[in-house]
Amino acid sequence: MYRAIVVTVSDRSFRGQRPDSAGPLVAEILKEAGYAVAGAELVPDEQPLIEAVLRRIADGEEAQLIVTTGGTGFAPRDVTPEATLAVCERLTPGIPEAMRYASSQITNRAMLSRAQAGIRKGTLIVNLPGSPKAAKENLDAVLPALAHGLEMLSGRPADCAALTD
Ligand code: MTE
Repeated sequence: MYRAIVVTVSDRSFRGQRPDSAGPLVAEILKEAGYAVAGAELVPDEQPLIEAVLRRIADGEEAQLIVTTGGTGFAPRDVTPEATLAVCERLTPGIPEAMRYASSQITNRAMLSRAQAGIRKGTLIVNLPGSPKAAKENLDAVLPALAHGLEMLSGRPADCAALTD
């Protein structure tokens, strides 16, 4: 069972002005998919703070998967993708490509998410948009493939030919 940590990035939720509904929803979806949710973090839209929490989790081997929600749009304070790019050693562009492809079947605003995904040490980091609806739709699009990626990342011999879906 892989450990996952959800990181909500939101000024308003951090200040207590809006309840964090996307974070708990993402955690629930991950639990249903068989992940052990090992923590939930709430940070404001500040790039150094986002980077610090991502580094702490990855470098401390707290989780194999970090899912962030929020801060992927065009607002001046939306910097989650920049924080993710700053900490990742390798990018996994197929994940945001698949999310935006699937989401574009639902809304043409899918193209407005600047979400990134990548790897730092043994941890995969995936950005999701901030609204619960968008977070769920984006996560649903990639979740079935993530375990296979995590298996490869862990160094265990993963059989790519043994397709399950
Ligand atoms: N993707 C899906 N599947 N469904 C959505 O409703 N909303 C879009 C986009 N991706 C959306 C979506 C919108 S309106 C924005 S602004 C961006 O995600 C970024 O969202 P964020 O700023 O909350 O991170």
